[in-house]
Amino acid sequence: MNTQSNPGRAQAVAFANFALIKYWGKRDAQLNLPDVGSISITLDTLWTRTRVELDPTLEHDLFELDGQAGAPGSARVVALLERMREIGGSRVRAHVHSRNNFPTGAGLASSASGFAALVTAADRAYGLGLTPTRRSELARIGSGSAARSIFGGYVEMHRGNRSDGSDSIAEPLAAADDWPLEVVIAVSDRSRKSVGSTEGMQRTSQTSPFYAAWVSNQPADLALAREAIAARDFDALADVSEASALAMHGLAMSARPGLLYFNATTMECLHTVRQLRADGVPVFFTVDAGPQVKAICAPGSADAVAAALREVRGVTEILRAGLGGGAACLDKQARSSA
Ligand code: PMV
Repeated sequence: MNTQSNPGRAQAVAFANFALIKYWGKRDAQLNLPDVGSISITLDTLWTRTRVELDPTLEHDLFELDGQAGAPGSARVVALLERMREIGGSRVRAHVHSRNNFPTGAGLASSASGFAALVTAADRAYGLGLTPTRRSELARIGSGSAARSIFGGYVEMHRGNRSDGSDSIAEPLAAADDWPLEVVIAVSDRSRKSVGSTEGMQRTSQTSPFYAAWVSNQPADLALAREAIAARDFDALADVSEASALAMHGLAMSARPGLLYFNATTMECLHTVRQLRADGVPVFFTVDAGPQVKAICAPGSADAVAAALREVRGVTEILRAGLGGGAACLDKQARSSA
């Protein structure tokens, strides 16, 4: 165990996740308590690696992302470390080095993998020994979707009802191997999104006339997705997932001023995915707070989907993934090659 062999230092990896039933809206912005539950899949190729080193000489935590000090999100990193120090009764600050192997803040769930990796490494470095459920609760403070990246495969995030957030946690629904779907990501813009999800959610809940309907419909969509996953029913999962993604974007567009995360290429990709499905290829789409289209493919269909999306005008890059595991500490060997 790293805690014994090298106290105060740990490295963890966590993978991005994509929601099929979307989270959009908070009941408490401070603690990131969601107004709706969500269901996601955790990927196996898009990751964040984070090293946490405690340093008694530091007066402030130091956070570096992809080699850049004081990266966006630093305040949330510090807030999370503060919470973990409270739990462990420690006052020692930390150096945090984080690395993403994919674009940050571009609607590819980098905050999800980022905060899940941070909590997992800090848990080990501070010697807290937290359960995955407790790490999920803490990761949520960094970013709502990060609570889901603690677990692999198919994951449900609960809305919860308590004001302290102790029941706003994720739990696994099925393992990656139970139903090995694949993901093809059509990237059309690698830049940071103009309106981040926190601001976008706030604007939506405060100004959209449809917000209450979105919240009240969510339990029905969650139930449909849960049943589809349990039955490995691809068509049912496709229908409810596309409905949820389009409802989320319709809702965001109905905020004032409206939020437009799609670009022209996003729209072309959505039509391409719909056409593929009409032609018998088992695939459906989802889109988050950015223009990239994620095509979710039944086993065996990802090559055809990737070939079709590569041809869409404006697609600059295709990323591929399968489903992967939960956040975990890396052993010494893995750390030295990281
Ligand atoms: O938790 P955040 O702030 O990264 O928000 C996630 C929002 C969406 O990606 C659009 C939806 C989701 O459920 O992941």
